[in-house]
Amino acid sequence: MFGKRATRAVELLSDGRHRGEIGHLNVTAAVIDVSFEVKAGEIFVVMGLSGSGKSTLIRMLNGLLEPTAGAVEIDGTDITELSSRDLRTLRSKKVSMVFQHFALFPHRTVLENAAYGLEVRGVPREERREKAAQALELVGLEGWGDHVPQQLSGGMQQRVGLARALAADTDIILMDEAFSALDPLIRRDMQSQLLELQATLGKTIIFITHDLNEAMRLGDRICVLRDGRVAQIGTAEEILNDPANDYVAQFVEDVDRTRVLTASSVMEPPIPVIDPGHGPRTALRTMRENQTVSAFVVHRNRRLVGAVREGVIGEAVRTGAKALDGLVDTEIERVHPDTAVADLFGQAAESPYPLAVVDDEGRLVGVIPRVTLLAALAPGGTEAADGAGEPEEPQGQRADTGGRPPEPVAAVRETADDEGGQR
Ligand SMILES: Nc1ncnc2c1ncn2[C@@H]1O[C@H](COP(=O)(O)OP(=O)(O)OP(=O)(O)O)[C@@H](O)[C@H]1O
Ligand SMILES: [Mg+2]
Repeated sequence: MFGKRATRAVELLSDGRHRGEIGHLNVTAAVIDVSFEVKAGEIFVVMGLSGSGKSTLIRMLNGLLEPTAGAVEIDGTDITELSSRDLRTLRSKKVSMVFQHFALFPHRTVLENAAYGLEVRGVPREERREKAAQALELVGLEGWGDHVPQQLSGGMQQRVGLARALAADTDIILMDEAFSALDPLIRRDMQSQLLELQATLGKTIIFITHDLNEAMRLGDRICVLRDGRVAQIGTAEEILNDPANDYVAQFVEDVDRTRVLTASSVMEPPIPVIDPGHGPRTALRTMRENQTVSAFVVHRNRRLVGAVREGVIGEAVRTGAKALDGLVDTEIERVHPDTAVADLFGQAAESPYPLAVVDDEGRLVGVIPRVTLLAALAPGGTEAADGAGEPEEPQGQRADTGGRPPEPVAAVRETADDEGGQR
């Protein structure tokens, strides 16, 4: 709460009064009812419109603002209880912050800017220069250390801001609209770089943005703030597929679902699968029983070998072949569980089989028929694709798309119509 009578405002709000009812106190209730826990190594995004309380919230997390009520715990220590000296230590050793407008010193070199956090901490000159140079290298600014910020583009300046946080080597990094001032393409670049860095450094990052697409791209979890209160906390997929209220639903309406949803979130269980040791007869029977025209061939340890098609197998059975040798298509389309749905369409169109979703160990973890991909485009689509309560539907889908030769347009239309008819 901002204002002289902040404590009184807290009492009234705790009694259930609305923000509008405390107007007479001349208090701004910036953050009213916000509770969450951030896990180590997580990117936790706080998203909300201008004035929803994001900056106020993040400034309470490193003690720049003291909450009128409530607690902020870092590693079990309530930082609202700390002396200002201990708070300064916390800010230099545990929590660093990257700001929207870079906050670089114009007359210092890029290297000195990156080393600033260490300088404050009293780290000897040589050591801090070395660490700052390493951090600059991490963000792709090797060789820029002797320039001054003005000689750098906006995106590069923001990298210096990030390098400063990395050089300080704090476990926690707070980023307040850190990319919001950048052009869209550079911004996307920075997001990718942050994700890459995070994959190796494993920092705990609290990232503030008013951009939902950015939130969904970066956040392991997202907290949607509205007027100082939590509207919803969840993963991007939870927020997309199961918005907690109309406010969040409206927010996510315009999101490009195909960029948020991943292969793992739309895939279906791989049924049926065939063991490479089985013969053509068993393979054919398995496909018939499951009413599919193709099937994946998978080792007992779930490692994917390839796929077979009904026609080829039927022919092999007729000619009396005893093994699947030479009948298995091994050049099939494989996708990683983390691939964005948007990047699957091309491969799906070219493949006569459902897409095989394969993990880092080469194991088949799921399949994506084309219809499933199309269903994922519609709001709530992934739930419909689960086919709850309609046992025949998933099988029908597989039979429809599984063995079809690559005629993407015709195939897509037909299956899309089928889907519509069944709903
Ligand atoms: N120092 C302050 N004194 C008084 N009121 C403040 C102060 N800082 C913020 N506020 C008010 O608190 C509310 C929340 O502001 P805050 O800056 O936290 O929002 P925000 O979500 O970060 O917005 P933006 O997206 O514009 O940065 C606003 O009504 C703002 O005017
Ligand atoms: Mg702000």
